[in-house]
Amino acid sequence: MNIAIFEVQTWKQEFLKKQLKGHTLLFFEEILSKDNAEKAKFCEVISVFIYSKITKEILRLLPNLKFIATQSTGFDHIDVAECTARQIAVSNVPYYGENTVAEHTFALILALSRNVHKSYVRALQGNYTIEGLMGFDLQGKTLGVIGTGHIGLHVIRIAKGFGMHVLAYDEKRDAFLAEVLKFTYATLEEIAASSDIISLHLPYNAATHHIVGEKLLSQVKKGVLLINTSRGGLIDTNALQAALDEKRVAGAALDVLEGEELILDEKQLLHYKQPNEKLEELAKNHILLKRDNVVFTPHIAFFSKEALERILITTAENISNFTRGKISNIVS
Ligand code: NAI
Repeated sequence: MNIAIFEVQTWKQEFLKKQLKGHTLLFFEEILSKDNAEKAKFCEVISVFIYSKITKEILRLLPNLKFIATQSTGFDHIDVAECTARQIAVSNVPYYGENTVAEHTFALILALSRNVHKSYVRALQGNYTIEGLMGFDLQGKTLGVIGTGHIGLHVIRIAKGFGMHVLAYDEKRDAFLAEVLKFTYATLEEIAASSDIISLHLPYNAATHHIVGEKLLSQVKKGVLLINTSRGGLIDTNALQAALDEKRVAGAALDVLEGEELILDEKQLLHYKQPNEKLEELAKNHILLKRDNVVFTPHIAFFSKEALERILITTAENISNFTRGKISNIVS
């Protein structure tokens, strides 16, 4: 089959050549647009990332097209209705990073619980004293997990490995999972009152905006650590600042910042070659980041070699399945 793969860097091309042996492959680092669609007009299969807008106009330029494999979870860049009308199947990469984000969550928890960041900065300054660097064990502590979807459940599994107790909050409860993974569902207030560490794993929307605000932060166990790898808007920054000032919250670890609407989500960050100027500006101006009990990472919880490889592997599988008459991860 003739397959054109767009938005694909060189290191990915080698992998795809091996996985799709026997097919005619065309690689393009650039997006698919009306300026280069001509080069793919004989192809039955194309693969794109989110910057190639697959509009009616583009589809008209690809008369032989039968299948699109997007290298992303989202597929809003593809006119799926038009694809259906033209009998073009579309597949995506439904999951790639739940364990990746969960592992980063623990990198952040441990940075705070064992003062890794403070120790590192001190050592860089030639100061090897340990005063003020005493941490605490995770074993026996209570972790409050807010959101028990793909990532939250992985966080719970890892927490169990550390010997932690887990309280969890979600609008949907699964008693079977709670029994198997040995966690307890609780209200937000109960989580606030009993958790030593609270980690957020909810989507950001109108219902979850500032879910961690003044009210919840006034109910937390004194000295709690707050971890956010979801979206900045889940936390009211001013309320967190006040809770840190009053030492109700002993530390916060943030992979995301409020104001994140200004910056791109992880699907888009994946293709960032230049520094993300908006994130840089936001981070520099963010008053929270100047505190030594706040750890910040620039939206990298998803960004592991294996997560990127999983995107590639699933995309290659989707294409390979199609060439063998099967369609996997179909969205239309
Ligand atoms: P998911 O959709 O599998 O889980 C979300 C959970 O939140 C679900 O169990 C759902 O029932 C629950 N939920 C939704 N709205 C709720 C509400 N109003 N009240 C109570 N529970 C509610 O999502 P997943 O994959 O676990 O991801 C969670 C979030 O992590 C994403 O929405 C995204 O914002 C963030 N994320 C961050 C990354 C990073 O690099 N920092 C990478 C990937 C995801």
